[in-house]
Amino acid sequence: MQQPPLAAFFSALLAEPRKIGAIVPSGGRLARLMTSEIEPSAGKVLELGPGTGVFTAALLKRGLPARDLTLVELESRFIAPLQQRFPDVTILRRDACELAACKEELGPHAAIVSGLPFRNMPAEIVRAIVGGGFSLLERGGAFYQFTYGHACSVPSDVLDEFGLQAERLGRVRLNIPPASVFRISRRPA
Ligand SMILES: C[S@@+](CC[C@H](N)C(=O)[O-])C[C@H]1O[C@@H](n2cnc3c(N)ncnc32)[C@H](O)[C@@H]1O
Repeated sequence: MQQPPLAAFFSALLAEPRKIGAIVPSGGRLARLMTSEIEPSAGKVLELGPGTGVFTAALLKRGLPARDLTLVELESRFIAPLQQRFPDVTILRRDACELAACKEELGPHAAIVSGLPFRNMPAEIVRAIVGGGFSLLERGGAFYQFTYGHACSVPSDVLDEFGLQAERLGRVRLNIPPASVFRISRRPA
């Protein structure tokens, strides 16, 4: 039987705490900050680690057409609830580490919104995801990442290797736990 989204979240959290990396789904304030720079006419947007779909709902609420949104989620428990809640959005059960290999299938994107728990991942995995993500991002595209820490969760040597910069958009104190949002983009030439 299919689980409701919150039941799926807590069942996944109990089974795979490091993969989920959060004690509850993100709140609405964090979702608004994460999606605040993405205009409805931006073009294609990729969301990594949507979980119960808090950022997905915020992107659609901003007016992004469902056909422009693709979700990449590894945890099988989230797939059916996401499909039921967002029937017109493309949902891939995939490891975000494989983004570089999906370049032809996915095509160019204007933005990536990531709920991935980078602080729980080895640096080489973060490197594969960020490198793969930027291989899909158009020239002016941005990768939005939140973290419960104060510093960006993408290590500085990974940023340097790909010629990237991370700018903090803000911190949401009224989230559980409080979280900072970073915009990661290519450094100007
Ligand atoms: C912190 S939860 C965030 C969920 C949601 N975006 C939110 O903010 O409430 C992390 C999500 O990333 C997913 N995830 C973890 N590792 C992944 C990977 N390698 N590829 C794709 N999704 C992954 C988890 O299954 C989970 O849905």
